[in-house]
Amino acid sequence: MSTPPGLDDLLALLRFPSVSTKPEHNGDVQACADWLVSKLRSIGLGTELHPTPGHPVVIARNAHKPGRRTVMMYAHYDVQPSEPLEEWKSPAFEPTIRDGRIFCRGATDNKGQLMAHLRGLEETLAEKGDLPVNLIFLIEGEEEIGSPNLKPFLEQHREELKCDVVAISDTGMVAPGVGTFTYGLRGIACMEVKVKGPTIDLHSGIFGGAVMNPNTAVARLAATLHDAEGRVAVEGFYDDVRPLQDWEREAWMQLGDSGPETLELTGVPALFGEAGYSDMERRWARPTAEINGIGGGYQGAGSKTVIPREAMMKLSFRLVPSQDPAKIMSLVEKHLLAHCPPGVRLEIEHGHVGMPYLMDPHSEAGAAAQRALTATFGGTIALIREGGSIPIVQAFKDVLGVETLLLGLALPDCQAHAPNENFPIASYEAGVRLNKQLLKELGAL
Ligand code: BES
Ligand code: MN
Repeated sequence: MSTPPGLDDLLALLRFPSVSTKPEHNGDVQACADWLVSKLRSIGLGTELHPTPGHPVVIARNAHKPGRRTVMMYAHYDVQPSEPLEEWKSPAFEPTIRDGRIFCRGATDNKGQLMAHLRGLEETLAEKGDLPVNLIFLIEGEEEIGSPNLKPFLEQHREELKCDVVAISDTGMVAPGVGTFTYGLRGIACMEVKVKGPTIDLHSGIFGGAVMNPNTAVARLAATLHDAEGRVAVEGFYDDVRPLQDWEREAWMQLGDSGPETLELTGVPALFGEAGYSDMERRWARPTAEINGIGGGYQGAGSKTVIPREAMMKLSFRLVPSQDPAKIMSLVEKHLLAHCPPGVRLEIEHGHVGMPYLMDPHSEAGAAAQRALTATFGGTIALIREGGSIPIVQAFKDVLGVETLLLGLALPDCQAHAPNENFPIASYEAGVRLNKQLLKELGAL
């Protein structure tokens, strides 16, 4: 089988275990950024590596000329951790091609999509000698940890980063070959809750019955987050939720019922969610509370009769327009304190936050993006929102005053964030075509 041009570059990029959340990978993250700098320079873009208090930002640009649109492309070169390692069919950071798909952590999220941008630029430069737009290609290394340093970076470099629109491939396609325009994303607020009981682990025979067990307290607290129907039971949680618009409910209905596919992809015995909303609506446009991790006490073989001194849970809340992550954090904190069982103390630590996003898919640039999708994929385009978060997107609006076009290439079974993450070679090729077409359409505005 002949390999498409640029695929070797993607494989090289995938071999860096650029896990942003783990300090032991800092060197790999840096090496990955360095590789991108040399690659971008080699295709003729002026490229700089900007240090931040965390992982560096890569910025590449062509020679800007007056009278052309300035387009920012954004991608991220960091990836999620690859655990549990034993569930990978081939090593997590050794890209392996099976059945036309590249299996590797980051294959879809986001290195495959990053390379579709990059190769689209490379081919356009090679064919035309220049791009039809003024380009700023910004690639960050902290998306998977909530982009903590990127908003300040945008504020510090506001002038150099001035642009007319942003384009990102870090979202999904509803099905293979169906051009998909994502006009909204959920936001996020993360927190960690520690429940502290006795100063040391206690013998459960000697002290059991006389003190609150922190594991019990965590379980009780966790159970207060939802009502029996699955609605979030935190007071005020839904106050700022903007209802779905009629046109989008209608348009999503036309896409068919995604429930059976969700059942199939997740392997759950039955779906469970807020009454009155379809599967798509629940996942794309309704807010949630999730317990991402929970633990405490003895986890080893056999039994150990102990009352642990501490237990914990990690929570995240997916938010929709116009919920504010900071306000939600404080409502949740109030809720947890009010429901804390007696005899234990709570310690609450706030984690990543990201604003939800919503734009008009029929804006001038939105229409150009839709034309690029039609030219690339043919047929009708799906206009959707998505449940995932890209925290910097609303910051592009707030700091630079521009809209973001989310033209993603991830398929429903890409296994992003999970073992055996994969990206079809055909998606990469389509992505290259899409990016070339997008440059053309935006250049013609
Ligand atoms: N590419 C995803 C975001 C995404 C996922 C958009 C699915 C649309 C559909 C991105 O890389 C991501 O995973 N973001 C994190 C952000 C968080 C760690 C702050 C997320 O959504 O969990
Ligand atoms: Mn991700």
